[in-house]
Amino acid sequence: MGRFYITTPIYYVNDAPHVGHAYCTVNADSLARWHRLVGDETKFLTGTDEHGQKVADAAAKNEMSPQAWTDQTSARFREAWDALGISYDDFIRTTEPRHYESVQKFLSTIHDNGYIYKDTYKGLYCVSCEDYFTIESSVDGRCPIHGRALIEMEEENWFFKLSAFEDRLISYYEEHPGFVTPETKRNEALSFIKGGLRDISITRTSISWGVPVPWDANHVFYVWYDALINYLTGIGYGRNDEEVVRWWPSSHHLIGKEIIRFHCVWWPAMCMAAGLEPPSHVQVHGWLLVGGQKLSKTMAAEGAVRLTDISPVVLTSEYGVDPIRYYLLRETSLGNDGEFSLEGITQRYNTDLANNLGNLVARVTTIVATKCDGIGPVPRSDSSLRPLAEEALVNAAGAWERFSPQSALEATWGLIGATNAYLEQHAPWKMEPGDALQGVIGDALEAIRLVAVLASPAMPEVCREIWRRIGLSGSPDAELFESSAVWGRYRGSTSIVRGAPLFPRIASDQ
Ligand code: ME8
Ligand code: MG
Repeated sequence: MGRFYITTPIYYVNDAPHVGHAYCTVNADSLARWHRLVGDETKFLTGTDEHGQKVADAAAKNEMSPQAWTDQTSARFREAWDALGISYDDFIRTTEPRHYESVQKFLSTIHDNGYIYKDTYKGLYCVSCEDYFTIESSVDGRCPIHGRALIEMEEENWFFKLSAFEDRLISYYEEHPGFVTPETKRNEALSFIKGGLRDISITRTSISWGVPVPWDANHVFYVWYDALINYLTGIGYGRNDEEVVRWWPSSHHLIGKEIIRFHCVWWPAMCMAAGLEPPSHVQVHGWLLVGGQKLSKTMAAEGAVRLTDISPVVLTSEYGVDPIRYYLLRETSLGNDGEFSLEGITQRYNTDLANNLGNLVARVTTIVATKCDGIGPVPRSDSSLRPLAEEALVNAAGAWERFSPQSALEATWGLIGATNAYLEQHAPWKMEPGDALQGVIGDALEAIRLVAVLASPAMPEVCREIWRRIGLSGSPDAELFESSAVWGRYRGSTSIVRGAPLFPRIASDQ
Protein backbone atom coordinates (compact mmCIF):
# COMPACT_ATOMS: atom_id res chain seq x y z
CA MET A 1 0.00 0.00 0.00
CA GLY A 2 1.28 3.36 -0.97
CA ARG A 3 0.60 6.99 -0.58
CA PHE A 4 -1.44 9.21 -2.84
CA TYR A 5 -1.56 13.00 -2.71
CA ILE A 6 -3.96 14.47 -5.26
CA THR A 7 -4.75 18.12 -5.91
CA THR A 8 -7.10 20.12 -8.11
CA PRO A 9 -6.22 23.59 -9.35
CA ILE A 10 -7.30 26.15 -6.81
CA TYR A 11 -10.16 28.00 -8.46
CA TYR A 12 -10.30 31.75 -8.89
CA VAL A 13 -12.99 33.37 -6.83
CA ASN A 14 -13.90 35.99 -9.40
CA ASP A 15 -17.26 34.27 -9.82
CA ALA A 16 -19.35 31.24 -8.90
CA PRO A 17 -18.28 27.64 -9.49
CA HIS A 18 -19.57 26.03 -12.67
CA VAL A 19 -19.68 22.62 -14.19
CA GLY A 20 -16.16 22.91 -15.65
CA HIS A 21 -14.73 23.16 -12.14
CA ALA A 22 -17.02 20.34 -11.07
CA TYR A 23 -15.60 18.19 -13.84
CA CYS A 24 -12.06 18.50 -12.52
CA THR A 25 -13.03 18.19 -8.88
CA VAL A 26 -15.24 15.12 -9.38
CA ASN A 27 -12.45 13.40 -11.30
CA ALA A 28 -9.99 14.14 -8.51
CA ASP A 29 -12.52 12.97 -5.94
CA SER A 30 -13.12 9.65 -7.68
CA LEU A 31 -9.37 9.05 -7.88
CA ALA A 32 -8.94 9.89 -4.19
CA ARG A 33 -11.76 7.49 -3.33
CA TRP A 34 -10.20 4.77 -5.47
CA HIS A 35 -6.88 5.12 -3.70
CA ARG A 36 -8.54 5.04 -0.28
CA LEU A 37 -10.36 1.89 -1.40
CA VAL A 38 -7.11 0.11 -2.23
CA GLY A 39 -5.69 1.17 1.12
CA ASP A 40 -3.34 3.93 0.02
CA GLU A 41 -2.77 6.63 2.56
CA THR A 42 -4.53 9.41 0.71
CA LYS A 43 -4.68 13.17 0.87
CA PHE A 44 -6.95 15.18 -1.39
CA LEU A 45 -6.47 18.95 -1.54
CA THR A 46 -8.64 21.52 -3.27
CA GLY A 47 -9.34 25.17 -2.59
CA THR A 48 -9.59 28.69 -3.90
CA ASP A 49 -7.14 31.11 -5.51
CA GLU A 50 -8.01 34.45 -4.00
CA HIS A 51 -5.41 37.01 -5.04
CA GLY A 52 -4.70 38.85 -8.26
CA GLN A 53 -6.19 41.55 -10.42
CA LYS A 54 -9.15 39.53 -11.63
CA VAL A 55 -10.40 38.86 -8.11
CA ALA A 56 -9.70 42.45 -6.98
CA ASP A 57 -11.70 43.70 -9.99
CA ALA A 58 -14.62 41.36 -9.19
CA ALA A 59 -14.68 42.61 -5.60
CA ALA A 60 -14.64 46.25 -6.72
CA LYS A 61 -17.41 45.63 -9.21
CA ASN A 62 -19.53 44.13 -6.44
CA GLU A 63 -18.65 47.01 -4.13
CA MET A 64 -17.07 44.74 -1.58
CA SER A 65 -13.62 44.52 -0.04
CA PRO A 66 -11.49 41.80 -1.63
CA GLN A 67 -11.51 39.87 1.64
CA ALA A 68 -15.30 40.00 2.07
CA TRP A 69 -15.76 39.07 -1.58
CA THR A 70 -13.39 36.12 -1.42
CA ASP A 71 -14.97 34.89 1.83
CA GLN A 72 -18.33 34.83 0.14
CA THR A 73 -17.22 33.28 -3.13
CA SER A 74 -14.91 30.71 -1.59
CA ALA A 75 -17.89 29.52 0.47
CA ARG A 76 -19.81 28.93 -2.75
CA PHE A 77 -17.12 26.53 -3.92
CA ARG A 78 -17.36 24.60 -0.69
CA GLU A 79 -21.11 24.53 -1.06
CA ALA A 80 -20.80 23.14 -4.59
CA TRP A 81 -18.36 20.46 -3.42
CA ASP A 82 -20.65 19.51 -0.56
CA ALA A 83 -23.49 19.14 -3.05
CA LEU A 84 -21.32 16.87 -5.20
CA GLY A 85 -20.14 14.68 -2.33
CA ILE A 86 -16.51 15.75 -2.69
CA SER A 87 -14.35 14.05 -0.07
CA TYR A 88 -11.52 16.57 0.11
CA ASP A 89 -9.25 16.25 3.13
CA ASP A 90 -8.23 19.89 3.09
CA PHE A 91 -9.59 23.04 1.49
CA ILE A 92 -6.99 25.73 1.08
CA ARG A 93 -7.65 29.43 0.69
CA THR A 94 -4.66 31.45 -0.45
CA THR A 95 -5.60 34.27 1.92
CA GLU A 96 -4.94 32.04 4.92
CA PRO A 97 -1.95 32.82 7.15
CA ARG A 98 -0.55 29.31 6.63
CA HIS A 99 -0.31 30.02 2.89
CA TYR A 100 1.45 33.37 3.41
CA GLU A 101 3.93 31.56 5.58
CA SER A 102 4.67 28.82 3.06
CA VAL A 103 4.85 31.23 0.12
CA GLN A 104 7.24 33.58 1.88
CA LYS A 105 9.41 30.73 3.02
CA PHE A 106 9.52 29.08 -0.41
CA LEU A 107 10.27 32.30 -2.29
CA SER A 108 12.84 33.51 0.21
CA THR A 109 14.63 30.21 -0.36
CA ILE A 110 14.64 30.77 -4.12
CA HIS A 111 15.82 34.34 -3.52
CA ASP A 112 18.60 33.12 -1.23
CA ASN A 113 19.56 30.54 -3.84
CA GLY A 114 20.19 33.39 -6.30
CA TYR A 115 17.35 32.79 -8.77
CA ILE A 116 15.49 36.05 -8.21
CA TYR A 117 16.58 39.50 -9.44
CA LYS A 118 15.09 42.96 -10.07
CA ASP A 119 14.40 44.44 -13.53
CA THR A 120 11.87 46.49 -15.50
CA TYR A 121 9.12 44.63 -17.28
CA LYS A 122 7.10 45.82 -20.21
CA GLY A 123 4.43 43.68 -21.81
CA LEU A 124 0.87 43.07 -22.88
CA TYR A 125 -1.29 41.76 -20.06
CA CYS A 126 -4.58 39.85 -20.05
CA VAL A 127 -6.37 40.28 -16.74
CA SER A 128 -8.55 37.22 -17.40
CA CYS A 129 -5.49 34.99 -17.78
CA GLU A 130 -3.47 36.96 -15.25
CA ASP A 131 -0.68 36.50 -17.77
CA TYR A 132 1.51 38.42 -20.19
CA PHE A 133 1.53 37.96 -23.95
CA THR A 134 3.91 39.07 -26.65
CA ILE A 135 2.61 40.85 -29.74
CA GLU A 136 3.32 37.66 -31.73
CA SER A 137 1.32 35.46 -29.37
CA SER A 138 -1.62 37.89 -29.33
CA VAL A 139 -4.39 38.01 -31.91
CA ASP A 140 -4.30 41.62 -33.15
CA GLY A 141 -3.45 42.85 -29.68
CA ARG A 142 -6.17 40.71 -28.10
CA CYS A 143 -5.87 37.71 -25.80
CA PRO A 144 -5.89 34.49 -27.86
CA ILE A 145 -7.93 32.74 -25.14
CA HIS A 146 -10.38 35.38 -23.98
CA GLY A 147 -10.45 37.75 -26.94
CA ARG A 148 -10.03 40.63 -24.48
CA ALA A 149 -7.95 43.67 -25.40
CA LEU A 150 -4.50 43.29 -23.85
CA ILE A 151 -3.28 46.07 -21.57
CA GLU A 152 0.18 47.52 -21.91
CA MET A 153 1.96 47.28 -18.57
CA GLU A 154 5.34 48.50 -17.47
CA GLU A 155 6.60 47.76 -14.00
CA GLU A 156 9.77 47.43 -12.04
CA ASN A 157 9.54 43.85 -10.89
CA TRP A 158 11.32 40.98 -9.33
CA PHE A 159 12.11 38.22 -11.80
CA PHE A 160 12.56 34.49 -11.54
CA LYS A 161 15.43 33.10 -13.64
CA LEU A 162 13.32 30.55 -15.47
CA SER A 163 15.77 30.61 -18.36
CA ALA A 164 18.40 28.99 -16.13
CA PHE A 165 16.29 25.82 -15.95
CA GLU A 166 15.87 24.97 -19.62
CA ASP A 167 18.40 22.14 -19.67
CA ARG A 168 17.48 20.80 -16.26
CA LEU A 169 13.81 20.69 -17.22
CA ILE A 170 14.56 18.89 -20.47
CA SER A 171 16.61 16.27 -18.63
CA TYR A 172 13.90 15.95 -16.01
CA TYR A 173 11.30 15.25 -18.70
CA GLU A 174 13.58 12.70 -20.32
CA GLU A 175 14.30 10.92 -17.06
CA HIS A 176 10.65 10.96 -15.97
CA PRO A 177 8.59 9.97 -18.99
CA GLY A 178 5.40 9.79 -16.91
CA PHE A 179 5.79 13.25 -15.38
CA VAL A 180 3.04 14.73 -17.53
CA THR A 181 0.18 12.64 -18.92
CA PRO A 182 -1.36 12.15 -21.45
CA GLU A 183 1.66 12.03 -23.72
CA THR A 184 0.32 14.64 -26.15
CA LYS A 185 0.30 17.14 -23.29
CA ARG A 186 3.77 16.08 -22.17
CA ASN A 187 5.02 16.74 -25.69
CA GLU A 188 3.32 20.11 -25.70
CA ALA A 189 5.06 21.13 -22.48
CA LEU A 190 8.40 19.75 -23.58
CA SER A 191 8.34 21.53 -26.92
CA PHE A 192 7.49 24.74 -25.13
CA ILE A 193 10.61 24.29 -22.99
CA LYS A 194 12.71 23.42 -26.01
CA GLY A 195 11.44 26.57 -27.71
CA GLY A 196 13.39 28.59 -25.15
CA LEU A 197 12.38 30.00 -21.79
CA ARG A 198 12.31 33.62 -20.72
CA ASP A 199 12.61 34.81 -17.17
CA ILE A 200 9.28 35.63 -15.55
CA SER A 201 8.19 38.62 -13.57
CA ILE A 202 6.89 37.38 -10.24
CA THR A 203 5.90 40.51 -8.32
CA ARG A 204 3.57 43.46 -8.76
CA THR A 205 3.53 47.00 -7.43
CA SER A 206 0.37 47.98 -9.32
CA ILE A 207 -1.87 46.10 -6.91
CA SER A 208 -1.72 45.38 -3.22
CA TRP A 209 -4.06 42.37 -3.16
CA GLY A 210 -1.45 39.66 -2.84
CA VAL A 211 1.14 38.03 -0.63
CA PRO A 212 3.75 40.63 0.43
CA VAL A 213 7.30 40.07 -0.81
CA PRO A 214 9.32 39.53 2.38
CA TRP A 215 12.41 41.34 1.17
CA ASP A 216 10.70 44.29 -0.58
CA ALA A 217 7.69 45.89 1.12
CA ASN A 218 6.51 47.70 -2.04
CA HIS A 219 5.76 44.47 -3.86
CA VAL A 220 3.26 41.65 -3.68
CA PHE A 221 3.76 38.36 -5.46
CA TYR A 222 2.12 37.87 -8.82
CA VAL A 223 -0.95 35.69 -8.30
CA TRP A 224 0.28 32.65 -10.24
CA TYR A 225 3.47 32.71 -8.31
CA ASP A 226 1.73 32.45 -4.99
CA ALA A 227 -1.00 30.11 -6.26
CA LEU A 228 1.24 27.24 -7.38
CA ILE A 229 2.78 27.07 -3.94
CA ASN A 230 -0.61 26.08 -2.46
CA TYR A 231 0.26 22.47 -3.24
CA LEU A 232 3.08 22.74 -0.74
CA THR A 233 1.15 24.84 1.77
CA GLY A 234 -1.35 21.97 1.92
CA ILE A 235 1.37 19.62 3.19
CA GLY A 236 2.94 22.04 5.61
CA TYR A 237 5.88 23.47 3.66
CA GLY A 238 7.98 25.70 5.90
CA ARG A 239 5.90 24.70 8.88
CA ASN A 240 6.11 20.93 9.06
CA ASP A 241 8.85 19.60 6.83
CA GLU A 242 8.25 15.98 7.81
CA GLU A 243 4.86 16.18 6.14
CA VAL A 244 6.45 17.52 2.96
CA VAL A 245 8.88 14.62 2.90
CA ARG A 246 6.01 12.24 3.47
CA TRP A 247 3.61 13.48 0.79
CA TRP A 248 5.57 15.27 -1.91
CA PRO A 249 7.01 12.18 -3.64
CA SER A 250 3.41 10.92 -4.14
CA SER A 251 1.99 14.18 -5.47
CA HIS A 252 -0.40 14.24 -8.45
CA HIS A 253 -1.76 17.50 -9.84
CA LEU A 254 -4.93 17.26 -11.89
CA ILE A 255 -5.21 20.37 -14.09
CA GLY A 256 -7.04 21.71 -17.14
CA LYS A 257 -5.10 21.98 -20.39
CA GLU A 258 -5.02 25.81 -20.38
CA ILE A 259 -2.67 25.87 -17.38
CA ILE A 260 -0.06 23.42 -18.63
CA ARG A 261 2.66 26.03 -18.92
CA PHE A 262 2.32 27.08 -15.30
CA HIS A 263 2.27 23.53 -13.94
CA CYS A 264 4.59 21.75 -16.33
CA VAL A 265 7.20 24.45 -16.95
CA TRP A 266 7.19 27.09 -14.23
CA TRP A 267 6.29 24.89 -11.31
CA PRO A 268 8.93 22.16 -11.72
CA ALA A 269 11.54 24.90 -12.26
CA MET A 270 10.39 26.73 -9.14
CA CYS A 271 10.68 23.52 -7.15
CA MET A 272 14.18 22.93 -8.49
CA ALA A 273 15.15 26.49 -7.60
CA ALA A 274 13.95 25.91 -4.04
CA GLY A 275 15.96 22.71 -3.81
CA LEU A 276 12.93 20.46 -4.01
CA GLU A 277 12.02 17.68 -6.45
CA PRO A 278 9.26 18.63 -8.89
CA PRO A 279 5.83 17.07 -8.18
CA SER A 280 5.73 13.43 -9.20
CA HIS A 281 2.96 13.67 -11.79
CA VAL A 282 0.76 16.18 -13.59
CA GLN A 283 -2.39 14.74 -15.17
CA VAL A 284 -3.88 17.10 -17.72
CA HIS A 285 -7.56 17.06 -18.63
CA GLY A 286 -9.45 18.69 -21.48
CA TRP A 287 -12.34 21.12 -21.47
CA LEU A 288 -16.02 20.56 -21.28
CA LEU A 289 -17.54 22.51 -24.08
CA VAL A 290 -21.07 23.77 -24.44
CA GLY A 291 -21.95 24.06 -28.08
CA GLY A 292 -18.22 24.02 -28.79
CA GLN A 293 -17.28 26.82 -26.37
CA LYS A 294 -15.32 26.43 -23.16
CA LEU A 295 -17.19 27.41 -20.03
CA SER A 296 -15.37 30.22 -18.36
CA LYS A 297 -16.33 32.51 -15.52
CA THR A 298 -14.73 35.44 -17.27
CA MET A 299 -16.66 34.93 -20.47
CA ALA A 300 -19.86 34.39 -18.50
CA ALA A 301 -19.32 37.65 -16.65
CA GLU A 302 -18.95 39.33 -20.01
CA GLY A 303 -22.17 37.75 -21.25
CA ALA A 304 -20.59 35.53 -23.93
CA VAL A 305 -21.98 32.26 -22.53
CA ARG A 306 -24.75 31.84 -20.00
CA LEU A 307 -23.76 29.58 -17.18
CA THR A 308 -26.62 30.25 -14.80
CA ASP A 309 -28.32 26.99 -15.76
CA ILE A 310 -25.27 24.86 -15.19
CA SER A 311 -24.30 25.48 -11.62
CA PRO A 312 -23.25 22.22 -9.96
CA VAL A 313 -25.73 22.76 -7.14
CA VAL A 314 -28.69 23.14 -9.49
CA LEU A 315 -27.57 20.14 -11.53
CA THR A 316 -27.29 17.82 -8.56
CA SER A 317 -30.64 18.87 -7.19
CA GLU A 318 -32.26 18.11 -10.54
CA TYR A 319 -30.58 14.86 -11.47
CA GLY A 320 -29.15 13.58 -8.19
CA VAL A 321 -25.55 13.69 -7.03
CA ASP A 322 -24.33 10.33 -8.27
CA PRO A 323 -25.90 10.56 -11.73
CA ILE A 324 -24.08 13.86 -12.29
CA ARG A 325 -20.83 12.42 -10.98
CA TYR A 326 -21.32 9.41 -13.25
CA TYR A 327 -22.01 11.59 -16.28
CA LEU A 328 -18.95 13.77 -15.71
CA LEU A 329 -16.66 10.77 -15.28
CA ARG A 330 -18.12 8.53 -17.96
CA GLU A 331 -18.83 10.88 -20.82
CA THR A 332 -15.36 12.32 -21.40
CA SER A 333 -12.01 10.63 -21.20
CA LEU A 334 -9.53 12.44 -19.00
CA GLY A 335 -7.25 14.27 -21.42
CA ASN A 336 -9.74 14.96 -24.19
CA ASP A 337 -12.31 17.71 -24.59
CA GLY A 338 -15.93 16.74 -24.14
CA GLU A 339 -19.33 18.11 -24.91
CA PHE A 340 -21.58 18.98 -21.99
CA SER A 341 -25.32 18.94 -22.52
CA LEU A 342 -28.47 18.27 -20.56
CA GLU A 343 -29.60 15.89 -23.33
CA GLY A 344 -26.36 13.99 -22.79
CA ILE A 345 -27.05 13.69 -19.07
CA THR A 346 -30.58 12.41 -19.70
CA GLN A 347 -29.33 9.89 -22.20
CA ARG A 348 -26.59 8.50 -19.96
CA TYR A 349 -29.00 8.43 -17.07
CA ASN A 350 -31.73 6.52 -18.89
CA THR A 351 -29.40 4.11 -20.66
CA ASP A 352 -26.55 3.33 -18.28
CA LEU A 353 -28.22 3.99 -14.95
CA ALA A 354 -31.95 3.29 -15.34
CA ASN A 355 -31.86 0.56 -18.00
CA ASN A 356 -28.62 -1.20 -17.16
CA LEU A 357 -27.69 -0.80 -13.51
CA GLY A 358 -31.09 0.08 -12.02
CA ASN A 359 -32.87 -2.61 -13.97
CA LEU A 360 -30.31 -5.26 -12.98
CA VAL A 361 -30.73 -4.55 -9.29
CA ALA A 362 -34.52 -4.39 -9.60
CA ARG A 363 -34.76 -7.69 -11.50
CA VAL A 364 -32.57 -9.60 -9.13
CA THR A 365 -34.05 -8.26 -5.91
CA THR A 366 -37.56 -8.91 -7.25
CA ILE A 367 -36.77 -12.55 -8.02
CA VAL A 368 -35.21 -13.01 -4.59
CA ALA A 369 -38.39 -11.61 -3.05
CA THR A 370 -40.77 -13.69 -5.14
CA LYS A 371 -38.88 -16.95 -5.58
CA CYS A 372 -36.19 -17.17 -2.88
CA ASP A 373 -38.19 -16.16 0.21
CA GLY A 374 -36.35 -12.84 0.29
CA ILE A 375 -33.03 -14.44 1.22
CA GLY A 376 -29.98 -13.96 -1.05
CA PRO A 377 -28.47 -17.24 -2.30
CA VAL A 378 -24.69 -17.82 -2.59
CA PRO A 379 -22.81 -17.58 -5.91
CA ARG A 380 -21.28 -20.65 -7.57
CA SER A 381 -17.54 -20.92 -7.90
CA ASP A 382 -17.83 -22.40 -11.41
CA SER A 383 -20.28 -19.79 -12.71
CA SER A 384 -19.75 -18.73 -16.34
CA LEU A 385 -20.17 -15.18 -15.07
CA ARG A 386 -17.10 -15.50 -12.88
CA PRO A 387 -14.38 -15.08 -15.56
CA LEU A 388 -16.23 -12.04 -16.92
CA ALA A 389 -16.38 -10.53 -13.45
CA GLU A 390 -12.70 -11.22 -12.88
CA GLU A 391 -11.81 -9.60 -16.18
CA ALA A 392 -13.86 -6.54 -15.26
CA LEU A 393 -12.11 -6.34 -11.89
CA VAL A 394 -8.67 -6.38 -13.50
CA ASN A 395 -9.60 -3.92 -16.22
CA ALA A 396 -11.40 -1.47 -13.98
CA ALA A 397 -8.69 -1.52 -11.33
CA GLY A 398 -6.03 -0.98 -13.99
CA ALA A 399 -7.96 1.95 -15.41
CA TRP A 400 -8.41 3.62 -12.00
CA GLU A 401 -4.68 3.24 -11.45
CA ARG A 402 -3.98 4.85 -14.83
CA PHE A 403 -6.13 7.90 -14.00
CA SER A 404 -8.85 6.77 -16.35
CA PRO A 405 -12.20 6.86 -14.57
CA GLN A 406 -13.97 6.64 -17.91
CA SER A 407 -12.38 3.29 -18.82
CA ALA A 408 -12.87 2.04 -15.28
CA LEU A 409 -16.58 2.71 -15.59
CA GLU A 410 -16.66 1.20 -19.06
CA ALA A 411 -15.23 -2.02 -17.67
CA THR A 412 -17.68 -1.91 -14.77
CA TRP A 413 -20.63 -1.39 -17.10
CA GLY A 414 -19.29 -4.26 -19.17
CA LEU A 415 -19.91 -6.47 -16.15
CA ILE A 416 -23.40 -5.02 -15.70
CA GLY A 417 -24.12 -5.81 -19.35
CA ALA A 418 -22.72 -9.33 -18.99
CA THR A 419 -24.86 -9.93 -15.91
CA ASN A 420 -28.01 -8.73 -17.64
CA ALA A 421 -27.16 -11.01 -20.58
CA TYR A 422 -26.59 -13.89 -18.16
CA LEU A 423 -30.05 -13.32 -16.75
CA GLU A 424 -31.59 -13.17 -20.25
CA GLN A 425 -29.84 -16.42 -21.06
CA HIS A 426 -31.09 -18.26 -17.99
CA ALA A 427 -34.42 -16.44 -17.64
CA PRO A 428 -34.70 -17.05 -13.89
CA TRP A 429 -38.12 -15.37 -13.95
CA LYS A 430 -39.35 -18.49 -15.76
CA MET A 431 -37.51 -20.98 -13.54
CA GLU A 432 -39.07 -22.94 -10.75
CA PRO A 433 -37.67 -22.28 -7.27
CA GLY A 434 -34.81 -24.67 -6.55
CA ASP A 435 -31.05 -25.11 -6.78
CA ALA A 436 -30.69 -23.99 -10.40
CA LEU A 437 -32.56 -20.78 -9.75
CA GLN A 438 -30.65 -20.19 -6.51
CA GLY A 439 -27.38 -20.59 -8.39
CA VAL A 440 -28.23 -18.12 -11.14
CA ILE A 441 -29.44 -15.53 -8.66
CA GLY A 442 -26.47 -16.05 -6.33
CA ASP A 443 -24.15 -15.42 -9.29
CA ALA A 444 -26.05 -12.26 -10.23
CA LEU A 445 -25.95 -10.99 -6.64
CA GLU A 446 -22.22 -11.55 -6.55
CA ALA A 447 -21.78 -9.62 -9.79
CA ILE A 448 -23.90 -6.80 -8.37
CA ARG A 449 -21.74 -6.75 -5.23
CA LEU A 450 -18.59 -6.45 -7.34
CA VAL A 451 -20.16 -3.70 -9.43
CA ALA A 452 -20.91 -1.79 -6.22
CA VAL A 453 -17.26 -2.07 -5.21
CA LEU A 454 -15.93 -0.98 -8.60
CA ALA A 455 -18.37 1.90 -9.06
CA SER A 456 -18.06 3.20 -5.49
CA PRO A 457 -15.38 5.82 -6.24
CA ALA A 458 -17.71 7.30 -8.86
CA MET A 459 -21.10 6.85 -7.18
CA PRO A 460 -20.54 6.41 -3.45
CA GLU A 461 -24.14 6.95 -2.34
CA VAL A 462 -25.79 4.70 -4.88
CA CYS A 463 -23.28 1.93 -4.27
CA ARG A 464 -23.91 2.11 -0.54
CA GLU A 465 -27.62 1.73 -1.25
CA ILE A 466 -27.01 -1.26 -3.55
CA TRP A 467 -24.90 -2.80 -0.80
CA ARG A 468 -27.77 -2.42 1.61
CA ARG A 469 -30.29 -3.85 -0.85
CA ILE A 470 -28.29 -7.01 -1.38
CA GLY A 471 -28.30 -7.51 2.36
CA LEU A 472 -24.76 -6.47 3.26
CA SER A 473 -23.81 -4.38 6.23
CA GLY A 474 -21.33 -1.50 6.12
CA SER A 475 -20.50 -0.14 2.68
CA PRO A 476 -18.46 -1.14 -0.36
CA ASP A 477 -15.82 1.47 0.49
CA ALA A 478 -15.43 0.39 4.10
CA GLU A 479 -13.62 -2.76 3.06
CA LEU A 480 -10.25 -2.99 1.31
CA PHE A 481 -10.48 -3.70 -2.39
CA GLU A 482 -8.00 -6.55 -2.16
CA SER A 483 -10.26 -8.55 0.11
CA SER A 484 -13.66 -7.56 -1.28
CA ALA A 485 -12.86 -7.77 -5.01
CA VAL A 486 -12.85 -11.56 -5.02
CA TRP A 487 -15.51 -13.77 -6.61
CA GLY A 488 -17.26 -15.80 -3.95
CA ARG A 489 -17.06 -13.35 -1.10
CA TYR A 490 -20.83 -12.93 -1.17
CA ARG A 491 -22.06 -15.26 1.51
CA GLY A 492 -25.78 -14.97 0.93
CA SER A 493 -28.29 -15.94 3.62
CA THR A 494 -29.19 -12.33 4.36
CA SER A 495 -32.41 -10.49 3.64
CA ILE A 496 -32.59 -8.66 0.36
CA VAL A 497 -34.29 -5.29 0.21
CA ARG A 498 -36.66 -4.64 -2.65
CA GLY A 499 -36.70 -0.87 -2.80
CA ALA A 500 -38.04 1.81 -5.09
CA PRO A 501 -36.28 2.13 -8.49
CA LEU A 502 -32.72 3.37 -7.97
CA PHE A 503 -32.98 5.54 -11.07
CA PRO A 504 -36.54 6.40 -12.06
CA ARG A 505 -36.48 7.15 -15.79
CA ILE A 506 -36.36 10.75 -16.92
CA ALA A 507 -38.81 11.65 -19.67
CA SER A 508 -36.51 12.40 -22.60
CA ASP A 509 -38.24 15.64 -23.56
CA GLN A 510 -37.14 17.05 -20.19
O1 ME8 B 1 -6.78 28.68 -13.58
N1 ME8 B 1 -13.93 22.30 -18.69
O2 ME8 B 1 -8.37 28.91 -11.91
P1 ME8 B 1 -9.74 28.80 -12.72
C1 ME8 B 1 -13.16 21.60 -17.85
N2 ME8 B 1 -6.60 29.85 -10.28
N3 ME8 B 1 -12.52 22.12 -16.84
C2 ME8 B 1 -12.65 23.42 -16.63
C3 ME8 B 1 -13.43 24.24 -17.45
C4 ME8 B 1 -14.10 23.62 -18.53
N4 ME8 B 1 -14.88 24.27 -19.34
N5 ME8 B 1 -13.36 25.50 -16.99
C5 ME8 B 1 -12.56 25.46 -15.91
C6 ME8 B 1 -7.11 28.93 -12.44
N6 ME8 B 1 -12.13 24.21 -15.69
C7 ME8 B 1 -6.05 29.19 -11.40
C8 ME8 B 1 -5.40 27.88 -11.04
S1 ME8 B 1 -3.65 26.41 -9.68
C9 ME8 B 1 -2.25 26.72 -8.85
C10 ME8 B 1 -4.28 27.98 -10.06
C11 ME8 B 1 -11.26 23.74 -14.60
O3 ME8 B 1 -10.80 29.25 -11.78
C12 ME8 B 1 -9.94 23.23 -15.11
O4 ME8 B 1 -9.44 22.26 -14.22
O5 ME8 B 1 -9.63 29.48 -14.01
C13 ME8 B 1 -9.06 24.43 -15.05
O6 ME8 B 1 -7.71 24.11 -15.00
C14 ME8 B 1 -9.55 25.08 -13.78
O7 ME8 B 1 -10.96 24.85 -13.79
C15 ME8 B 1 -9.20 26.56 -13.79
O8 ME8 B 1 -9.93 27.23 -12.87
MG1 MG C 1 -9.48 29.94 -16.00
